[in-house]
Amino acid sequence: STSLVVAVDGPSGSGKSSTARGVADRLGLAYLDTGAMYRAMTWALLRAGTDLSDPDAIAAAARGIHLESGVDPLDPTIYADGVDVAEAIRGENVTAAVSYVAAVPSVREQLVAMQRQSIADNGDRIVVEGRDIGSTVAPDADFKIYLVADPAARAARRAAEDGSADALATEQALAKRDEIDSNRAASPLAMADDAVLVDSTYMTLEEVIATIVDMVEQP
Ligand code: C5P
Repeated sequence: STSLVVAVDGPSGSGKSSTARGVADRLGLAYLDTGAMYRAMTWALLRAGTDLSDPDAIAAAARGIHLESGVDPLDPTIYADGVDVAEAIRGENVTAAVSYVAAVPSVREQLVAMQRQSIADNGDRIVVEGRDIGSTVAPDADFKIYLVADPAARAARRAAEDGSADALATEQALAKRDEIDSNRAASPLAMADDAVLVDSTYMTLEEVIATIVDMVEQP
């Protein structure tokens, strides 16, 4: 069948994961969570005791770490050096450190190569979610969505997901991560020129999924 690569980018907590999984499920496509890959790399570096304030140390250690991501939207899996890290990568320690790891150019090269391989392995029929998919990983994607939401809405959703009562602390943590992600030199978070902006602030998840499915089905 014909290629159908859907890129879903946007800041932290904009609802990308739930949206991208829902779209992949509805369209019968594979699903790749690239944020989970940066998180799994960060988990492995933390476990190895790598000094995360030293980009050269990160770059050297990252080369020896093997990641594997499953692409079933109903059961996304992620392994680092053979360890199932799906839960561990959502921990606060990983979330606080991941943007420093993701700013290291050679780490990005390593993971972008894996991401392109995964797209090819799935016959170019896949929803890929991240920060730089439309701009860098898959600039020829058939559809590019840039998903945003107001900071307070993002924090409220994420706090609910985390089971955390402190929406303000969550909002500050998201803002900090977005600042690092947007200001790094290597493929920063940015909306591709040809991406379609979707603001989910006043939409339900089902409405966001339907909007994107419609876009793909009746371009
Ligand atoms: O999407 P998620 O919040 O899991 O991403 C975690 C972090 O991974 C982001 O804050 C960002 O630093 C990094 N990331 C990235 N490029 C991507 C996906 C995620 O730099 N394509």
